[in-house]
Amino acid sequence: MALTAHQVTLITESFKKVEPISLKAAEIFYDTLFSYDPSLKSLFKGDMKQQGRKLMAMLHAAVSTLNAPEQLLPVLQQLAKRHEGYGVKKSHFTPVGNALLHTLKVGLGDDFTPETRAAWVALLHFVADTMKAEMAA
Ligand code: HEM
Repeated sequence: MALTAHQVTLITESFKKVEPISLKAAEIFYDTLFSYDPSLKSLFKGDMKQQGRKLMAMLHAAVSTLNAPEQLLPVLQQLAKRHEGYGVKKSHFTPVGNALLHTLKVGLGDDFTPETRAAWVALLHFVADTMKAEMAA
């Protein structure tokens, strides 16, 4: 993964600041996502609070294995296969990534520096590229 040690620190430290407000962050995330593309709403069948918790738990797992991407790889590959089953397409990663960056911006305020943003962009590209490689469409 093309992340420097400093970027790993920036991601870990910034995520720690979002975790205490994770329910709120998840709410901002889904509101933003559905404002970008309301048609994505129909893909989500479960309770959105529960879904928000799962998303934050997954991000937590991703962030905590940043120093061992070989552990993250199989997890992301399986996650991608399940997402195919949910009807997710490769093109959906752009609005999802943008909604996540917006959430971090709102949640972190001034702490979301250009350097921290760049680190998150690098991580999101890694996650999205890894997942998309497993998906047919
Ligand atoms: C950034 C990478 C992503 C991560 C880390 C992620 C994480 C998760 C997790 C942890 C779950 C819980 C179920 C499971 O583990 O299989 C889930 C479910 C789901 N995700 Fe994602 N996801 C990502 C990208 C996306 C994208 C691009 C979409 C497209 C809109 C999406 C839509 C969904 C849907 C529809 C479900 C199932 C909801 C239900 O149960 O009704 N995800 N995701």
